[in-house]
Amino acid sequence: MKTKLLHEDGIALAAELIRQGEPVGMPTETVYGLACDAGNPDAVRKVFAAKGRPADNPLIVHIADIADWAPLVTEIPPLAQKLAERFWPGPLTIILPRTERIPSVTAGGLDSVGVRFPAHPVAQALIKASGVPIAAPSGNRSGSPSPTTSAHMLADMDGRIPAILEGGSCLCGVESTVIALDDAETVRVLRPGFVTPEQLGTIAKRVIVDDAVLAKVKEGTVVRSPGMKYRHYAPKAKVTLVQGGQDDFLRYMEQHTGTGVLALVFDADVPACQMHGIPCKAYGDTDEARAAAFFAALRDADAAGVSHLYVRAPRTDGVGLAVYNRLIRAAGYDIVHAEQTCPAEI
Ligand code: TXA
Ligand code: MG
Repeated sequence: MKTKLLHEDGIALAAELIRQGEPVGMPTETVYGLACDAGNPDAVRKVFAAKGRPADNPLIVHIADIADWAPLVTEIPPLAQKLAERFWPGPLTIILPRTERIPSVTAGGLDSVGVRFPAHPVAQALIKASGVPIAAPSGNRSGSPSPTTSAHMLADMDGRIPAILEGGSCLCGVESTVIALDDAETVRVLRPGFVTPEQLGTIAKRVIVDDAVLAKVKEGTVVRSPGMKYRHYAPKAKVTLVQGGQDDFLRYMEQHTGTGVLALVFDADVPACQMHGIPCKAYGDTDEARAAAFFAALRDADAAGVSHLYVRAPRTDGVGLAVYNRLIRAAGYDIVHAEQTCPAEI
């Protein structure tokens, strides 16, 4: 099967494929997703197979009208309603107990479902034209960096699915914020994303960032979001995350440059890297710019034959938390504290 790249005039065809139980690539404002009819277990199984995804990792269900949420969940608590009104359409996924409208296979065997109303016009048009809620994990092969362009998705999925809808480069570049409600006033962030804990705190009284967001989940631990226990987002190149200021980073890199090495740095680091002979590529100077660029940068490093990518660590507040969360997983938790390993010369 050759995978077709469809343009805006292909939405009706993509919707037809979805109704027939086929998976289709769908652009969203976060990353490209692999869309199918959330209520069709056979279609959902095709999505798991195309991704090579473990069966216990649930899929997010996408709607294009807030009214389509109620049939999917047993109850919408007032806090969930307020969060949806504030952040939808947009990159927020809200987990609630599911109804039988969501098959167990879609939910990875859990009794809950994460629902999101994406902001991308092509995603909204596809969901509306399909007439069904759409399950869509990120459109990468399981374990690889998420696709932020149709070309990235095609690179992973060519020959595995009938079609991908073109929708340009994803503006956010990092997947949605996944939350659960601990009680009537408390939001728990299971996966950080473009909607930040600070923003959630304008609606919820308390916002807890789950321990698994910033640390490695221990073998055998039961996690609230199954995706957090898998190695993720990893390019073929070895990735090391380097913490510290610009001077610390430069000192560390001077001792680690060599064939196949590339430093992924902030824009403002480029001149200093060049002066020190450190091969580098920039991934932005703001949290938002880095979020939009880093998945593509991981894929580009592979395309350029990089064997070891050293990444200047982003901040862990705002959207930076989402970028940091993805990078520690891409690095397999190989995190270097350059300020400790390379003390300044006296
Ligand atoms: O932005 C996004 O969320 C993208 C686009 C396509 O919408 N989708 C996406 O899906 O990132 P995926 O499957 O790659 O990541 C979904 C994450 C996984 O870590 C999964 O474990 C978690 O959300 N998740 C989904 N449903 C859940 C549930 N019912 N309970 C706990 N975690 C859930
Ligand atoms: Mg994913």
